[in-house]
Amino acid sequence: MPAVTAYAHTNIALVKYWGKRPGAVAGLNLPAVGSISLTLDRFGTETTVEPIDADDGAADSFTLDGVEVSAAEAAKVSVFLDRLRRLTGDTRKARVTSRNDVPTAAGLASSASAFAALALAASRAWGVTLDDKALSRLARQGSGSAARSIFGGFVLLHRGELDTGDDCFAEALPSSLDVRLVVVRCGEGKKETGSTDGMELTSQTSPYFAPWVETHPKDLVDARDALAAADLPKLGEVMEHSTLKMHATTLAARPGFFYFQPTTIAVLQEVRRLRAHGIGCWATMDAGPHVKVLCAPADAPAVTDAVSAVVGVRGVDVAAPGPAARVLS
Ligand code: PMV
Repeated sequence: MPAVTAYAHTNIALVKYWGKRPGAVAGLNLPAVGSISLTLDRFGTETTVEPIDADDGAADSFTLDGVEVSAAEAAKVSVFLDRLRRLTGDTRKARVTSRNDVPTAAGLASSASAFAALALAASRAWGVTLDDKALSRLARQGSGSAARSIFGGFVLLHRGELDTGDDCFAEALPSSLDVRLVVVRCGEGKKETGSTDGMELTSQTSPYFAPWVETHPKDLVDARDALAAADLPKLGEVMEHSTLKMHATTLAARPGFFYFQPTTIAVLQEVRRLRAHGIGCWATMDAGPHVKVLCAPADAPAVTDAVSAVVGVRGVDVAAPGPAARVLS
């Protein structure tokens, strides 16, 4: 079977996923809460999967941005490919080559586009055509946020109830709302606490984790209502609430931890200052120092100018809603 190349864009959660479902089978990667995201037209991962004959004693290999990755990183890809090998009975190994248009593991959600592109390329390379729901479930097993990058635009990832994870998949949430997400880089390098470890520590030790889970469904309802009504201020308000609440759970973990850098806080203050001056913009942060600012397309230039002038900002990119994952060749 020939090599297959797929591309997936990254996505940023507006209503965050943080924490796995207690008691769930670890490999299924079932979230404690649902989430709503925006797939971006900037940043993403291109991945080629080429099955190779196992009888030459070959193992899976994984090259990222031209460099053969560590055994630990390659193992994550192999575990993922094992699912397809089990599903199809085709036990061949694969050569996997990826190119990231996202600073890897710096909190710009590279795992989302990475596992979405891998799920699409690998399933096709193994001769399986999955519908979007099934593809989303498969991508989820690599990384929760990847389930959402299968779709373009606004996306809902259902928490689901079943232990099998069959009802835990993403779907597109059509809305007439047009937005921009101004991505403000507030630091460099790999983050200290990856999202999986961060979630685990928070869910096990933070007294704020239970209230996070309890109050989360209302945020999803409010964000869905805002999208249905194309109400940007309402969406922005619930988005900022969701991210601050998520980060509050990490502050109260034992030991407490946080993803903010001084520049992160300075940008958050600038967003508040812009709002006080009548520019509708709201901030969100993930498991890294960067800030993403949601605003109307017409306000993106003013927001970009303002945040670019904040001391310590390393770069600013303006993203619009982007497309679904796709096969390139
Ligand atoms: O699925 P992961 O491991 O990339 O975790 C995503 C966690 C957050 O980015 C903080 C929130 C989210 O919903 O994307």
